[in-house]
Amino acid sequence: MTMLKTNTPLDALLGGGLEPGILSSVQGPAASGKTNFAICAAIAAVSQGGQAIFLDTENGLSPARVVQVGGRGLAKKILAKRLTSFDEQLRLPGKLRKMKASIIIVDSAVALYRLELREGKEKETNRKMANWLHKMALLAETKKIPVLLTNQVYKKDGEIKAAAGDLMQYWPKTIVQFEITSLNSRVATLLKHRSLQSGKRVRFRIVEKGLKKSLI
Ligand SMILES: Nc1ncnc2c1ncn2[C@@H]1O[C@H](COP(=O)(O)OP(=O)(O)OP(=O)(O)O)[C@@H](O)[C@H]1O
Ligand SMILES: [Mg+2]
Repeated sequence: MTMLKTNTPLDALLGGGLEPGILSSVQGPAASGKTNFAICAAIAAVSQGGQAIFLDTENGLSPARVVQVGGRGLAKKILAKRLTSFDEQLRLPGKLRKMKASIIIVDSAVALYRLELREGKEKETNRKMANWLHKMALLAETKKIPVLLTNQVYKKDGEIKAAAGDLMQYWPKTIVQFEITSLNSRVATLLKHRSLQSGKRVRFRIVEKGLKKSLI
C-alpha cells in the first residue's frame, strides 16, 4: 500500500502520508491550517502525476494560496469545485464514482451539514450525513485512494469538541487534530489510526510554501 506523501510534517505523523482506501479527517479550530494542509495534499497528488479533486464547501480555498504553495502550473491541475448546499454534497458520491482521482478532498465536510441541522429535522439530517460518510468511505475503498475530510472543532468547558460529533469520529479511520499554540505555531496530534499508536504530536508552522516542521 502506497501512502500519498503530502510533503508536510504530517507525513511523519501518519507513517508516510495519507492512507489510500479510507477516510481521513483533519479537525481543528479556525485558522489552524486545515485548508492549508488540504492544499498541500492536492498539490502533492498532482505533482506526482495524479488527479486531485478539491470540493470546497465554505469558500475557504484561495486560488492565490494554491499558487503560492504549488506554483501556477500545478495549481491549475487541481480540479476545484465549490459546493453551496447539503443536497449538492449528498449527490457527490454518485458523481465522483465515474471520475478519475488519486485524492478527493472535502473541505469542510461538515459546514453544509451544520447549516442543515439548524433548519431542524435533526434525525433525518444525521441519517443523511451517516449515509454520505458511508458512501464516501466506500468510494475511497473501491478507488483505493485517500479521501480527506476537514472538520471544525469548538471548545466547551475547556474541552475541545468536534463539530459533527460521533459521526465524524467513527467514519474516518485516521483523525488528526490541529491546535493553535501561538500566532504562527501549530501542533498536530494523531487522535485515531488503525495501525499506529495515537497521541503522537508534531509542531508546525504555516509558511509561504505550505506547512513546515517547527521545534517550538
Ligand atoms: N503565505 C502564508 N504564509 C504564512 N501563513 C499563511 C499564509 N497564507 C495563509 N496563512 C495563514 O494560514 C492561516 C489560515 O489557515 P487555513 O485557512 O488553513 O485554516 P483553516 O483551519 O482551514 O480555518 P477555517 O476553519 O477557518 O477554514 C491563517 O493564520 C493565515 O495567516
Ligand atoms: Mg479552511
